[in-house]
Amino acid sequence: MRAVRIHAHGGPEVLTVEEIADPEPESWPASDADSSADAESAPGAGEVLVRTVASSLNPVDWKTRAWDVGPALPVTLGWDLAGIVVASSAPEFAVGDRVIAMSAQLATGLGTWAELVRLPVRLLAHAPRTLTLAEAATLPLAGTTAVQALAALRPESRARLLVTGAAGAVGGLAVQLAHRAGVSVDALVSRPEHIEVVREFGAATVTHSVAELPQGTYDAVLDTAGVDVTRALADGGSYISVSDAPLPDVAGAAKSYVQESSKDLAELVDLVDAGRLKVRVAAHYPLTEVRAAHEHFEAGGLSGKVVLLF
Ligand SMILES: NC(=O)c1ccc[n+]([C@@H]2O[C@H](COP(=O)([O-])OP(=O)(O)OC[C@H]3O[C@@H](n4cnc5c(N)ncnc54)[C@H](OP(=O)(O)O)[C@@H]3O)[C@@H](O)[C@H]2O)c1
Repeated sequence: MRAVRIHAHGGPEVLTVEEIADPEPESWPASDADSSADAESAPGAGEVLVRTVASSLNPVDWKTRAWDVGPALPVTLGWDLAGIVVASSAPEFAVGDRVIAMSAQLATGLGTWAELVRLPVRLLAHAPRTLTLAEAATLPLAGTTAVQALAALRPESRARLLVTGAAGAVGGLAVQLAHRAGVSVDALVSRPEHIEVVREFGAATVTHSVAELPQGTYDAVLDTAGVDVTRALADGGSYISVSDAPLPDVAGAAKSYVQESSKDLAELVDLVDAGRLKVRVAAHYPLTEVRAAHEHFEAGGLSGKVVLLF
């Protein structure tokens, strides 16, 4: 099968599309859950083999490519997955099911940019019925991050929340999720042309200027852009960042790091199928043009995700 791999860190030119061995279902190793005494009854025990239809690019993919981070090389990249089950040892998933998954490739080395991906069942959810698999591939990492960062913030209904980087993948989903939960959301974007789309997601006030943010106002800030908006935070407000930027000097400011969660994926899928959460695709690239996909994504300024088609 073909997979997108790197043998060295660097620019898009280090990305290679190469033939590697297929995962073999008959040699699947026993997972920790399988080897435990109550493995038979453990929910989620087992593994699933997925034929990949699409993935999407996330900042972690280019950072893992460019920076000296992550598992030993060579390694297959990719966190997002949308595809079709071709083998399963888990009762929750049957051959032919449409699925999505998020794999924490940076920590585990289990990349999704391969034509066949073998995953533990705890990483999977059934794909939204209302999306193509190309659209569904935009949801796992960004959506799970947004759900978990908002859970860490716990903004109350009618609280005022500021989301930075709100036209981005995580920010755009976080605005929609918070708005649907009854939170009053304002947003900071990077450029004026992104203001309207974030308003449509439910943000009340959207600006591209930090100077225009009201001082001492927000009960909660979710920073996805690494921009210092602490002067807009109310006294005692909470501050969660998912960006790489150092945390501001604010009491209780914390980072949120995304965790694999089929439960959070299933929650996102339900919202999408109920018409309560929108995803956006900015561009599609075939697997063979993965270098161009990276260049496009890293140039920034997108309103929507870059999708890789297998
Ligand atoms: N901690 C975690 O577990 C976790 C999980 C997922 C993502 N992340 C990180 O979270 C960040 C966002 O991820 P993402 O997938 O949402 O990326 P993304 O889709 O590229 O979105 C980032 C957004 O921030 C905007 N932006 C940049 N500088 C800004 C500024 N000064 N003011 C306002 N907006 C600004 C960008 O606009 P332009 O494109 O116009 O610059 C873009 O719309 C990345 O750093 C990513 O690595 C962390």
